[in-house]
Amino acid sequence: MMFNVKRFRKLFLTAALCLGATFALTGCGGEQPSAEPVDKTLKIGSSVDFDPFEFPSEKDGEYLGFDIDLIQAIGKELGRETEIQNINFEELITALDDKKIDAAISAMTITDERKAKADFSDPYFTAGMSIVVKRDNREINSFDDLAGKRIAVQKGTIAAEKAKQVPNAEVTEFDTVLACLRTLNAGTSDAVINDKPVNDYVILRDSIPDLRTLPEQLDVGDYGIAVAKGNDRLLKDINRALKKLKESGEYDQIHDRWFGSVHQ
Ligand code: ARG
Repeated sequence: MMFNVKRFRKLFLTAALCLGATFALTGCGGEQPSAEPVDKTLKIGSSVDFDPFEFPSEKDGEYLGFDIDLIQAIGKELGRETEIQNINFEELITALDDKKIDAAISAMTITDERKAKADFSDPYFTAGMSIVVKRDNREINSFDDLAGKRIAVQKGTIAAEKAKQVPNAEVTEFDTVLACLRTLNAGTSDAVINDKPVNDYVILRDSIPDLRTLPEQLDVGDYGIAVAKGNDRLLKDINRALKKLKESGEYDQIHDRWFGSVHQ
C-alpha cells in the first residue's frame, strides 16, 4: 500500500484530539475531580470491642452489631461494598487522615474536640455513660463517690476524659472495654466508666458475672459516623443514605434487632 500523506495527517490529528480530550477530562493527570468510581469499596474502621454496636462473631473474621448492620445498609444504599477493619478506638481518626479508611463507625460520640479533627455525619444514636462496679460494692453509688478510687476506661474515649476529671482518682486506660470490665473482678480497679447501652447489654447478658451499673447517667451525646475533614462528598452520601434508612423503617429494624425492647 502506498504511503498516503493525507490519510496519515488525518490519523495524526484524530490521535492528537483524543489525547487532548483525555487530558482535559483528567485535568492533565493532576487531581482527578470526581473520577472516583462509584462502585469502589468503602473502607470502614471500627473498634470491634463494643457489644452490641460492634463485636467479633464466633466465626473467624466476621464482625457483628448495630453499627456493622447500619454501615452495611448505608453501603448498600450507595451501591458500594463495605470492608471493615478492626482498629483501636483511639487510632480511628488518624486512620482517616492516613486514608487507611474512608469512614469510621464505632459508637463514636460527636464532640467539639473530635469535630476539629474529623467531619461527622448526622447523629444516628443517642447515648450517655454509666458507671460499672462489682455487684457487692456498696461504697460507690454515684459519680461523686469515685473520688480517690481506681477507675478503668477505654483509651481515647469520652469516658477516659470523664475519669480524668475525678479528684485524686487513679485512672488506667485499656485498649478494649472488656479489658476494663475484667479488672473489676480481678480486683485491680473499683469502677469502669463506659457508654450506658454497652454496660446494660453486658450486665443483661451476664457476659462478665457479678457486676452492676449505677442508675446515674452521665453526659448524654450523639454518635456520628466520621470521615476525614473535608470529605464532603462521602459525608453527603452517608447522610443521604442514613436519611433514607430512617424513612424506610430499615433503621428501626436494625435498632430492634440489637436492642429489642431495651431502651437507649
Ligand atoms: N462513645 C464513646 C466515645 O465516643 C465510646 C466509644 C467506644 N467505641 C468502641 N467501639 N469501642 O468516646
